[in-house]
Amino acid sequence: MCVINRFLRSRFEGRILIYSHNLHLVYIAFCRRPSEPPLENGLLPYLGCALQFGANPLNFLRTRQKKYGPIFTCKLAGKYFHFLTDPFSYHTVMGHGRHLDWKKFHFAISAKAFGHGSIDPDDGNTTENIHQTFTRNLQGNALTFLAESMMENLHYVMVEPNASRIDSSDWVTDKLYEFCCRVMFEAGFLTLFGTDFNPVGHDKGLSANQEAHRAFILRTLENFKAFDQVFPALVAGLPIHLFKSAHSAREKLADALLHKTLKKRHNISELISLRMFFNDTLSTFDEKEKAKTHLAVLWASQSNTIPATFWTSFYLIRNPKAMEAAIKEVQRVLENAEIKIDSTRKPISLNRKQLDDMPVLDSVIKEAIRLSSASMTVRVAKEDFVLQLGSNSYNIRKDDTIALYPQLLHFDPEIYSDPLTYKYDRYLEENGKEKTTFYHNGRKLKYYYMPFGMGLAKCPGRLLAVHEIKQFLTLLLSYFEVELLDKNVTCPSLDQSRVGLGVLQPASDIDFKYRLKCL
Ligand code: HEM
Repeated sequence: MCVINRFLRSRFEGRILIYSHNLHLVYIAFCRRPSEPPLENGLLPYLGCALQFGANPLNFLRTRQKKYGPIFTCKLAGKYFHFLTDPFSYHTVMGHGRHLDWKKFHFAISAKAFGHGSIDPDDGNTTENIHQTFTRNLQGNALTFLAESMMENLHYVMVEPNASRIDSSDWVTDKLYEFCCRVMFEAGFLTLFGTDFNPVGHDKGLSANQEAHRAFILRTLENFKAFDQVFPALVAGLPIHLFKSAHSAREKLADALLHKTLKKRHNISELISLRMFFNDTLSTFDEKEKAKTHLAVLWASQSNTIPATFWTSFYLIRNPKAMEAAIKEVQRVLENAEIKIDSTRKPISLNRKQLDDMPVLDSVIKEAIRLSSASMTVRVAKEDFVLQLGSNSYNIRKDDTIALYPQLLHFDPEIYSDPLTYKYDRYLEENGKEKTTFYHNGRKLKYYYMPFGMGLAKCPGRLLAVHEIKQFLTLLLSYFEVELLDKNVTCPSLDQSRVGLGVLQPASDIDFKYRLKCL
């Protein structure tokens, strides 16, 4: 929200607002209906509590939770958000599914941020059920192929360039977030959008073609970062024309994803081939709009995975015990799969069963994401209805938003003792199996970990994301020695600008060094 806050503050300061605010309060007071949740209108007309919320959503919601209880309404940028803060009420939202819509909100945000026409079939531009395309082509058998391809690409991006360096045993100093960005972006891009050469089966340095392609990916990454920086502002409804360089970056990204360009590439994922086919056969989008729907997939696949990889690696490198347990687990899985790590540095291939048999890495990844994610789950009321919470009923109006903010859950000391402390084995039972029992007020929780959303709208790429991070760690821990330059470095704070959108980026980067292990 920082970008938005800065933008809005510069335009909305002034005494005139105080007068209009008073009028506004009077207006709202008249408009309240019985049995609605307690309302906090905020200080500014239209914006309501948006600035206070944006400055520190967790504190904002905690204080309102203390004041009002498990449900309250806040006006945020002209819309009424009913926040539910009791984790036992989350299933209630599921239970009211027929009154609530999750698609329209997603569709509207996608069109606003990426600049394509509406992907809502009700609006007549396309008949594709895009959510179904995502679920079918990111999970099940499709996931097996995606995971195989990702592992080859990670090897190509991480291991090969280092192995082919003459001084490969020398330490390389780098920034950890930058490193995770480069590696995950390139490997993830190749996995979804294929390549203009065959990445497998070469070991003696990069051909000129591959060098040129790498340069193209790095330029694409720079454009991606420029666009991602203003993403929260676009979601808040600001037009992209206000951000000249981000606008130009978005157009360049779309140019790289035009169908005519993608058709020249090899090994494109089933997801993207099918989306191209549906764009061409089921939609009336022009070529640029089609490309922008692919940009939406690129953004969804990278924007959370990159920071999640950073936080997982950072906490792991900083915690020798966690590192030891992770290395031991990777060695066990490789031994069971009869894969030898030796000086040939052949690509490692782990199937989904083997990747699923890594409870320590699961716990390490979950704990890092718990500490860094700030997603928000929202559903829009399709009609006026009564929300039943225990013995209390609340009137909800059509077009109001029901919102869950899982960081409240993730940082609740009753659920997670010392919630701000990193504990790599938080999600492990004593017998080393996955821990799934967490309690609140002595009652077992169904929802205790929600960085991927919930219900039908749950992230369809969540399994791929966890596989990708495990694969990254498997290569990192098998082939490299890694160290922080300053072993006592403090944990970077969370950059709050993407609050509500997923895993937060670090506010500053971390110096580290790595070198290939002598095998
Ligand atoms: C750590 C990594 C990731 C996190 C934390 C994450 C989180 C999320 C969240 C919170 C949502 C919105 C769910 C809701 O509204 O309730 C979402 C949607 C989505 N994610 Fe992910 N995601 C991650 C990685 C990925 C990856 C690797 C892909 C692969 C393409 C992906 C594809 C998508 C798509 C396509 C949607 C929109 C689904 C729809 O609207 O139908 N995500 N993700």
